[in-house]
Amino acid sequence: MSHEGDCFLVPGPVRMADNCLQAMATPVMTARGPEFRDVMAGLNSGLRYAFNLSPSEGVKKTQSWTGEDGYKVVVVSGSGTAAMEMVIANRFRANDLVLVPTNGKFGERVAHICEQFCNVKHLKYEWGRSFDHYEIEQQLERGCYEALLICHNETSAGITQDAEAIAEMCERHNVAFILDGITSVGGVPVHPAEWKAEAVVMGAQKCTAGPSGIAAVAINAHCEERIRAIHLQGDTGPKYYLDMMAALKKGDDDQTPWTPAINLAMGWSAALDNLKVETNEGRWARCERLATGVRALFTDLGFGLLADNGQRSNTVTAILYPEGIDDAWRTALKDTYGTQVIGGQDHLKGKMFRIGSMGETPVEEMVEGCRRMLACFRDFGHDLPEIDVASYFA
Ligand SMILES: Cc1ncc(COP(=O)(O)O)c(C=O)c1O
Repeated sequence: MSHEGDCFLVPGPVRMADNCLQAMATPVMTARGPEFRDVMAGLNSGLRYAFNLSPSEGVKKTQSWTGEDGYKVVVVSGSGTAAMEMVIANRFRANDLVLVPTNGKFGERVAHICEQFCNVKHLKYEWGRSFDHYEIEQQLERGCYEALLICHNETSAGITQDAEAIAEMCERHNVAFILDGITSVGGVPVHPAEWKAEAVVMGAQKCTAGPSGIAAVAINAHCEERIRAIHLQGDTGPKYYLDMMAALKKGDDDQTPWTPAINLAMGWSAALDNLKVETNEGRWARCERLATGVRALFTDLGFGLLADNGQRSNTVTAILYPEGIDDAWRTALKDTYGTQVIGGQDHLKGKMFRIGSMGETPVEEMVEGCRRMLACFRDFGHDLPEIDVASYFA
């Protein structure tokens, strides 16, 4: 089978499947009626599956947002950043100190959000470099941290943190572990309960191939308890729309405090049905197959990858441009070859490109997209041998 038409290989928003688009075209329903509660229950159940939590029935009035493991999923009308801010704004008091190791733009954003609400020790590593676990351990030994927060899959640099090892350190030091899982949940293995993560955040438009503008949080019982205690003490920072207490009040009833993103919820629920059919394991394996192929192909051709070997992401690969090539290549790739990848951010703008391997991207599309990328590099005078691209994704 081959791929025809555009290749859309960006690390989110990703292409939405027809059933997702069609679900969003459903005529409007009221926000408080039984129809929407059915939608929310289905969405909650799909989210619990994507977060790799214990199952719930997608049926209203059955507490679909929670399950045996005690985690609750909370849907947020807003993108992933809003969901991350919701966790941080509600979970910490102004005097709390949190540890935030980072190696890219989105980790740095986590640190900046934390700075709005509490004290932050920011361990800033170069983009794409692995965290120094010894340094993290030394920090945690000081015994002064309330929590450690990471961007699990750093989309700006194509690196996935060793969450299991960090979770183990957090548990030993009795420190809450919170993850931005915006480009990991649904794309790489995430185990909130095993890692005893207090909160994990995901965005619909990434690995679950839902629409942009809706996100979700999974919180465990301890996180909820802390949020309630801090609220009772009147010790929280400023918030209104993102008040977790308001969301917790409505959850049992398959409702949200404010008018929900009704049609986005319908679309995301349909996209999560597709994930259930593929299974988490199936999707993780496909993302790995796509990213492994991309990494091997471009490395064999002499390209440099930004992220440290051993922790390279399976949902996004950051590839350095060869000498003399910049983002004009990306423009040509789009205009001439109908193929989109994304560029570098901040200081890496114009120095690299990133290939997304998340969502429902079929292998054939990746093969065809890579062929076009190589053709476009040749157009730019970069000498490349003829190579059997498909063999890298077999
Ligand atoms: C890892 C990560 N965190 C956070 C964000 C921000 O998410 P959003 O744009 O949905 O607010 C992104 C977006 O690309 C991301 O990749």
